[in-house]
Amino acid sequence: MTNLETSASSLESTALPLLVEPDGRGITDLIAERRAELRAGLAERGALLFRGFDIGGVDGFDAVVRALSGEPLLYTERSSPRSTIKGRVYTSTDYPPDEEIFLHNENSYQAAWPLTLFFYCVEPPTSLGATPLADIREVYRLIDPQVRREFEQRGWMLVRNFHADFGAAWQDTFNTTSREEVEEYCSRNGILCQWQGKEGLRTRAVRRAVHVRPGDDVPRWFNHLTFFNVSTLPADLSEGLRAMFAPEELPTNTFYGDGGEIPAEVLDHIRGAYRRATTRFDYHRDDVLVVDNMTAAHGREPFTGPRKIAVAMAEPHGSE
Ligand SMILES: [Fe+2]
Repeated sequence: MTNLETSASSLESTALPLLVEPDGRGITDLIAERRAELRAGLAERGALLFRGFDIGGVDGFDAVVRALSGEPLLYTERSSPRSTIKGRVYTSTDYPPDEEIFLHNENSYQAAWPLTLFFYCVEPPTSLGATPLADIREVYRLIDPQVRREFEQRGWMLVRNFHADFGAAWQDTFNTTSREEVEEYCSRNGILCQWQGKEGLRTRAVRRAVHVRPGDDVPRWFNHLTFFNVSTLPADLSEGLRAMFAPEELPTNTFYGDGGEIPAEVLDHIRGAYRRATTRFDYHRDDVLVVDNMTAAHGREPFTGPRKIAVAMAEPHGSE
């Protein structure tokens, strides 16, 4: 395995992802034989890139997931629109091409999340459209110790509001029309839920901002507190939403775990730490990118052209 040559904008200290190329065998045979070594490399470095293999479409991709990680997961408590391609293989988020998706760790706002994520390039974009990656051990180190301490003591809170006539409907997010099912889901997953009027719902979840990954005790900046904060949205959208809603009534927004507002300069500082730790590469057709969700954050660049990336997740892990 060799380091993938990344763009000049990437930091020398960032060695994401680790490149794996064909050695004469098919990809699933290669994984079967080198599984322990590949999994160790993935946990240590944060991402693997399989390049140059004949994947064999979505069925072949599904077989890669099973060979490396076992059964893929269902996608629940949706925060972003995805469509099912086949079985447990989904589209990457259906989000406007001209907008960036900020770096995040999948489902870190939930009580459980996948340890391993898979991205399969069915159709590369014409320009940009990378899945940028950032080592979250590095993000943690780049954040001012005082800022970290504040979050380590207070945690962070995600507040979501499902309004009857604006934004996502709770029925779509929770994939049910039953209020009882929503209440049960929330109580099982450490979420407070409050019905608002006839159709509205507010949910609040307090989570930890810093976690360790099973297997070591290196702290990781593992949360969605920047991603879901209204200030991370494009300026015009952020201003429009803030003109319509109070901070706690926004469709999604984040706070300290005790409900205190997070100062704008703290959010700027954290976004800056993510940017400094970010590396990127251009997708080739048939690339399979494997991301260790508790070691690397991922995002999406804006893009032009077709871009079709299939996604699967595996290896559920509960909050420790
Ligand atoms: Fe994601």
